[in-house]
Amino acid sequence: MKTIKTTPIAAVLREPDKFTGREVDVKGWVRTRRGNKNVQFVALNDGSTIKNLQIVFDLTRFSDDDLKAIATGASIHVQGELVASQGKGQSVEVQASELEVYGTADPEKYPLQKKGHSLEFLREIAHLRPRTNTFGAVLRIRHALAFAVHKFFNDKGFYYFHTPLITASDCEGAGAMFQVTTLDMENPPRTEDGKVDYSQDFFGRHASLTVSGQLEGELGATALGCIYTFGPTFRAENSNTPRHLSEFWMIEPEMAFYEIEDNMDLAEEFIKYCIGYALEHCSDDIDFLAEHFDKDLKERLDFVVRNDFVRLPYSEGIKILEESGKKFEFPVYWGVDLASEHERFLVEEHFRKPVILTDYPKEIKAFYMKLNDDGKTVRAMDVLFPKIGEIIGGSQREESLEKLQQRVDELGLSGMEWYLDTRRFGSVPHSGFGLGFERLVLFVTGMQNIRDVIPFPRYPNNCEY
Ligand code: 4AD
Ligand code: MG
Repeated sequence: MKTIKTTPIAAVLREPDKFTGREVDVKGWVRTRRGNKNVQFVALNDGSTIKNLQIVFDLTRFSDDDLKAIATGASIHVQGELVASQGKGQSVEVQASELEVYGTADPEKYPLQKKGHSLEFLREIAHLRPRTNTFGAVLRIRHALAFAVHKFFNDKGFYYFHTPLITASDCEGAGAMFQVTTLDMENPPRTEDGKVDYSQDFFGRHASLTVSGQLEGELGATALGCIYTFGPTFRAENSNTPRHLSEFWMIEPEMAFYEIEDNMDLAEEFIKYCIGYALEHCSDDIDFLAEHFDKDLKERLDFVVRNDFVRLPYSEGIKILEESGKKFEFPVYWGVDLASEHERFLVEEHFRKPVILTDYPKEIKAFYMKLNDDGKTVRAMDVLFPKIGEIIGGSQREESLEKLQQRVDELGLSGMEWYLDTRRFGSVPHSGFGLGFERLVLFVTGMQNIRDVIPFPRYPNNCEY
């Protein structure tokens, strides 16, 4: 092999004219190979783009062993001249002069052969599925969206604030937490009344994986002004749905001096920015997913970016549902926690737009939300999306120590003194929300199942790798 700098395939295909007539050096995995006894064509992919680079092997120059080595799944290093392609389907190709084989892949055993595989099958081999076109596209879009999140907030002067993953508090109060312990499960130490003695556990108390970084985020916002978190969260709810994961990533901005309207404005701007960023930077991948899974994808993304979201109080939403004459599986009445079918009716059939639903009954929302003057509803806001349902949940926070203390007492929450200190000392109106990152990726990729937009999904009865 000559010493030539390796070029990512994306760079070669972005500027083919620049490289034509020159020697290129490329490395990647063989997607397919076809041809005859004189010439073989390999589609090479290195993950930098959905597109493959065609490599032409003239069999007068390469041996049978070489040929065997360039089967689907093998990893290779190729040098050769980039030339205009005579075939259909690509404008340029590499006329291979040198081949180095890093790793072969036995065609009898490599599960990702040429034919398209079902997403269900690919879920069973999730350790290899990043090598498929579909998952390559999804994972590149996922990266772009994560980058867009940081760019959006950084450009606005928000600080990235790191909240703990191991915690002693239950933010959402849903009790769906995974316990963290080093106690001997077979024989845990006991207190005098026979309960497990967590004072002897690693942290000297009962600890769990966090369901949300919000409470700690509020500590950051009441010092730094505007912060956001972006990290994994864990929920032990037994929800086997295409919208739930046991481990998912959440972005939680928290802003001092923001009222609910400011919060809604920010949420809408943020989501539109992320989608717009993906449309601008991931068009090859979005086009691929649209072609294979969802032909209306681009139109739907454009539509969301270009149109205002509807803003509607919960009570009016209930009225619309009651008057719709539609038979829902779950009953609709004031006070009910909306089911996905209700949310989707409002968004997909009634308004045909994203909807921000506000002012929910306090009983169905978390303890920290600001109570409205009616004493019945809280300043909550859920952003509901077509195909997804709830993509964002947020609220203005209760800043009155007295009212918050009352909620804490009503619900019998303990160990909240550190949180209540934010209201004791220099309390301010403030707001925030949480965006489920995988639900955003689901929307932008047009995939149907949340398990297909994270590299290694965690859900009930599944914790492989
Ligand atoms: O509505 P949630 O439970 O709100 C909170 O956790 C607040 N502390 C957020 C805040 O105000 N800072 O969750 C927020 C979002 C949901 O709207 C949804 O998009 C996502 O997180 N989410 C899930 N995504 C995947 N799998 C699950 N099991 C999810 N649960 C919530
Ligand atoms: Mg919610």
